Amino acid sequence: MDLDQGWSPAVRARAREAGFGSRMLPYRWLRHLEQAGRREPFLAPAHLQALGFILQAPSPGNPDGLPVGMTLTRATRRQPDAWAGLGCAACHTGELRHGGQRIRVDGGQGWLDFTAFERAVIDSLSATAQNPVVFERFADALQTPAGQRESLRAALVERASALEARHRLNASDVAYGPGRLDAFGQIFNTVAVEVLGVPGNRRPPDAPVSYPVLWSAPHLDLVQWNGSAPNAGPGPLIQNVTTALAVYGHARVPSRGPGYASDVDFKQLGRLQDDLYHLTAPAWPEATLGALDSERIARGKPLYDTHCAACHAPIDARDPRRRPRAVLTPLADVGTDPRMVRNFLDADARTGPLQGKRARVVAGAPFGERARSIDLVAHVAIGVALRHPLASVRDTVRGYHRVAKASLDTHPDYYKARPLDGVWASAPYLHNGSVPTLDALLRPAAERPAYFQVGHGEFDPQAVGVATAMAGGWRFDATVPGNLNSGHEYGTTLDEAQRRDLLEYLKSL
Ligand code: HEC
Ligand code: HEC
Repeated sequence: MDLDQGWSPAVRARAREAGFGSRMLPYRWLRHLEQAGRREPFLAPAHLQALGFILQAPSPGNPDGLPVGMTLTRATRRQPDAWAGLGCAACHTGELRHGGQRIRVDGGQGWLDFTAFERAVIDSLSATAQNPVVFERFADALQTPAGQRESLRAALVERASALEARHRLNASDVAYGPGRLDAFGQIFNTVAVEVLGVPGNRRPPDAPVSYPVLWSAPHLDLVQWNGSAPNAGPGPLIQNVTTALAVYGHARVPSRGPGYASDVDFKQLGRLQDDLYHLTAPAWPEATLGALDSERIARGKPLYDTHCAACHAPIDARDPRRRPRAVLTPLADVGTDPRMVRNFLDADARTGPLQGKRARVVAGAPFGERARSIDLVAHVAIGVALRHPLASVRDTVRGYHRVAKASLDTHPDYYKARPLDGVWASAPYLHNGSVPTLDALLRPAAERPAYFQVGHGEFDPQAVGVATAMAGGWRFDATVPGNLNSGHEYGTTLDEAQRRDLLEYLKSL
């Protein structure tokens, strides 16, 4: 079931289907691909579900019933064949299960196991190329004439090795599991290694973070878990271009003319951005998860005001003009796992072909031999955005250095506190997803579970969050650096009754 989050059914459908130019493999292939070692379609519902995709029925915009966020490129004259890839909704749509019901949460944390999905695609492509029986079945399904089968096989091998190279580039000692990805670590590698063509720039992306919830994000002044990205001016466009490059996008650097050529679909990105602006937090569905207790909520509110509101200021989540502010909290104060923010600050790389180019393409000092990885990413994203079809947008992109200045040039070690509207639906908690429930977050770190199962989707309405007693899913290990569940010890000295009151209030946000 869907909750009311300010989107009409039509907007909801297009947001779940919209692609931004992500090109992982030709869709014709994907349709006929089998799972590696099994005579079962790759797109079999059970297989997709095991990888963390949310299934959906066919619709006019999605006639083959692809899962939420598995997207196709739009046909162009130069590239008439659609490619399959991932859209925003693959990571940013949640599904909670309770009492046999499934609750869809648009803009919520998805369970996609990014690493497992990538691995499965590579293994299927390789198995198809290597196993003659599987290959013939595949080529028959594609109706490939005999004379073209060897080139089909070569194309499979080529695609598998390109994806394998990307997969190895992003190998990490800290496994991501469902619902997480080291987004900055991977985009740093995409830009510094792949786009610039400098293999020595590789850094392990070993600080996976949760897919954050997106309602209210477009209204915030700063986004990303460390608050490093400004939302002013062309900020969202630059962020979206960055994402598009990270998620099987391509940019050609350097390329002729102003800015850099890419496969980014600006039209779709613009529409997605507009749609996201109207998305609101889901309200606790009392019919499915149980009635809220108004007396407890009334007692919880002053506790919230005392212990939480200084950093998580309450907002009117339905006000279309809300302007929530992210409260940047120093690492030394919040005390959560430092790795994400440290990697972000420490990463630098050889500039290769960008040496001598201005840091913000049309502004800033020229790059020397090395630069901070985030500046290289910003440079490439600005360059790509300078190819936006609208002149007015290109003009705002030229001014990006002004809004980016404060956050990118002098960004110290912070995590951001965001408004908590819809927080009941965004478990597991903290940037690294290390705390399964709100109840656990309101206890001292030493009392939070060191291990729990995640990705099964089962919701616990009492503790509010991931049902930890489930057998299925993936085992989260909060003792591994990168996964630590330390810090954020706010409201952790409340007594049992107070904690329940505060929890009830949080459910109502
Ligand atoms: C493969 C998974 C994935 C896809 C696809 C994806 N994102 Fe994200 N997104 C993430 C992760 C992970 C982060 C957190 C990055 C960080 O802060 O370190 C994030 C962060 C964000 C944020 C910042 C939210 C906040 O409050 O800090 C926004 C906004 C966002 N994404 C929008 C989008 C849009 C729009 C798209 C499609 C153009 C998209 N994302 C596609 C994984 C994804
Ligand atoms: C001093 C500032 C501060 C105070 C006070 C504070 N928080 Fe936070 N909160 C943060 C920061 C910073 C983060 C992000 C930390 C991270 O992800 O590592 C955060 C994250 C959270 C999250 C996780 C959000 C998500 O999407 O995963 C929840 C839930 C939360 N806070 C609830 C509370 C509650 C409830 C209180 C009061 C008992 C509270 N906070 C008090 C700063 C604060």
